[in-house]
Amino acid sequence: MMKFMIPVLILALIFSLSYSKTISILIGGSLDGWKEIADDFYKQTGIKVDVVQGPPSTDGREIMYSISLLTKTKGFDIVYLDVVWLGKFASASWLTPISNFVDPLKYFKENNLAESSFLASLYKDTFYTVPIKADAGVLYYRKDLLEKYGYNVPQTWEELKNIALKIKEEERKQGNIIEGFVFQGKQYEGLVCDFYEVLRGMGYELIGQEKGKFVVKIKEDELEKVLQFFRSLIEEGVSPQSVVNYEEEESRIVFQQGKAVFARNWPYAIKMLVEDENMKDKFGVSVLPGKNPTLGGWALAVSKYSPNQQEAWIFIDFVVKNGLKTLFLKRGDIPTKIDLFQDPEITQKLPYYDVIMESIDFSKPRTIHPLYPRISNIIQIYVSGVLAGKIKPKEAAKKMINEIQKIISL
Ligand code: GLC
Repeated sequence: MMKFMIPVLILALIFSLSYSKTISILIGGSLDGWKEIADDFYKQTGIKVDVVQGPPSTDGREIMYSISLLTKTKGFDIVYLDVVWLGKFASASWLTPISNFVDPLKYFKENNLAESSFLASLYKDTFYTVPIKADAGVLYYRKDLLEKYGYNVPQTWEELKNIALKIKEEERKQGNIIEGFVFQGKQYEGLVCDFYEVLRGMGYELIGQEKGKFVVKIKEDELEKVLQFFRSLIEEGVSPQSVVNYEEEESRIVFQQGKAVFARNWPYAIKMLVEDENMKDKFGVSVLPGKNPTLGGWALAVSKYSPNQQEAWIFIDFVVKNGLKTLFLKRGDIPTKIDLFQDPEITQKLPYYDVIMESIDFSKPRTIHPLYPRISNIIQIYVSGVLAGKIKPKEAAKKMINEIQKIISL
């Protein structure tokens, strides 16, 4: 009997090992929500998901994914993509089309995914990603302070600047050390989102298409005005010098601590502010001045080089069906699944649902171009240079247009 038992046990072990597969994904900053989803998924399917913690900024993760995909080896099985990476990743053929697993449109509709978000999954007639998190820039303001000084929510960027400065100065006279306006001023993708919002809010467009060719739309003197606006925020004391080091979380924390009249951020912060006893009745959220929020968002895709294509897809499908609520409750991520907005657990913590929807409706994507990361890089260098006072708006405008023109005509 024993003679047979041992080989049978070994066989069973080999069999179970080959079936307990592990797949991996890279997530930014905190792993909240994703860990819980991975645990549930393991319990239900026996497939392990290694949730790897990446850098908090989208740029850092874009580099990590790109490096692993460039080597064409296993790397991460699942890619969690910022909408803005799609042009680069899809044109490099790094992602498996969704149609390898399901009929994409049918799948998106069956799962009640918002049309505005699944359109951002499309690159040259092919769907590569499944939208998970909906995003558009919004304005956070101190309701109590606007009331105290008799101001309405600003409708233009100039108005925001003036109100921010007035309230800041008045409050400081009364011993309340507060800033006027905080945003994402660091040299990274977040700054580019804020830059598009101001530029478009002032009525300009950076890049457009003419007769099928990409062209720079904005004139030098117009761009100079936009850049001058950013510089004036620091020069005139509307924003602190330190804003040049702020990503989303720094801006959120300053605002949540009651240290800013206005903040530009994504809707994820609403849930955190609502849960904060000190802040919950003092803040409001509105569509950004100039009504031109940047479209953001995150989506899942299967890496072309994953040897576990089916398992990776099963995980994505699991997140869509079971994970979006967890991602909202743990991280504040706005779900792309429309029916969740009828769930009281979500609506209770999302009092500005209408503002989010309006902002998503108004939002515009950043330039869609396979070389977008290079365009973004140029924007980052010059806008941050101007913010820090290292280059004058006029010179920056000229150089920026020149360099972007070179990239888009490649
Ligand atoms: C948010 C947006 C994303 C954007 C990033 C910039 O995560 O969803 O699209 O690129 O912020 O920091």
